[in-house]
Amino acid sequence: MPLLEVSGLSKAFGDNTVLRDISFSLDRGQVLSLIGSSGSGKTTLLRCLNFLEQPDGGRIAVDGRTVFDATATQKLSRAQRRENQLTFGLVFQSFNLFPQYTVMRNLTLAAELAEKERLRAARASREEIRAACAAVQERALDLLAQVGLSDKAEVYPCDLSGGQCQRAAIARALMLSPQILCFDEPTSALDPELTGEVLRVIRALRSDERTMIIVTHEMEFARHVSDKIIFMADGVIAEAGSPDELFGAPQSEKLRAFLAHSRHGEEA
Ligand SMILES: Nc1ncnc2c1ncn2[C@@H]1O[C@H](COP(=O)(O)OP(=O)(O)O)[C@@H](O)[C@H]1O
Ligand SMILES: [Mg+2]
Repeated sequence: MPLLEVSGLSKAFGDNTVLRDISFSLDRGQVLSLIGSSGSGKTTLLRCLNFLEQPDGGRIAVDGRTVFDATATQKLSRAQRRENQLTFGLVFQSFNLFPQYTVMRNLTLAAELAEKERLRAARASREEIRAACAAVQERALDLLAQVGLSDKAEVYPCDLSGGQCQRAAIARALMLSPQILCFDEPTSALDPELTGEVLRVIRALRSDERTMIIVTHEMEFARHVSDKIIFMADGVIAEAGSPDELFGAPQSEKLRAFLAHSRHGEEA
């Protein structure tokens, strides 16, 4: 059974249909890259998966469990909604760190709230809650080490480079242990000399068998890190397949034109 199954997803903003009948599946540990020109619907698709937009039609299932169904009539409980949201994590192009908190606090804030909420619902003791918060701190330190930011725990985002901010944002997304981690153009806001350190961190996550969906304009990176590629054009999946299929033998004129454009380093 695939880990993620998306079927017939659609989304419109007013009369602008942005996603049409999007269907794909992904196995556990696989990496999917979404490529396509600006405006083709890539961000909207990620936002639908992360419950930041509500699709108009279709179904999303994770591990056989339906997390979204446009035809569902029953309202989900708050706890169910929360659980569904935690299935996915999203790393934004613009990092979205909280500027008023240290790197450490950026990592621990949501995780501590989630732990407290869970433990209070289970009527845990203060002692248990304190222990859980200590575990969150430990986990944050481990993840900071993993992204090479051990020495930045007490630093504020304004004193980090863009690459360091993005690595902190990746660690923050990992704090909540999402089953599927999504990236929306994680290096687009960075100076070219800083993209390498972020792409290296993402590549290293891949070797942990993590399931990831990456929107990227870095074609070489997509080719090497992905198990699957989806090429989106005008809100539909125009082509899908292995990196060798899409990059080696593109079928459509649209994809050929897109790849030719990308190779010339132009903004697609
Ligand atoms: N919140 C929104 N309200 C209205 N239109 C939107 C909104 N978000 C995206 N769109 C439109 O949806 C289309 C796809 O955008 P987007 O998903 O951002 O594409 P991509 O990430 O591939 O560049 C664009 O036409 C964009 O203007
Ligand atoms: Mg986008």
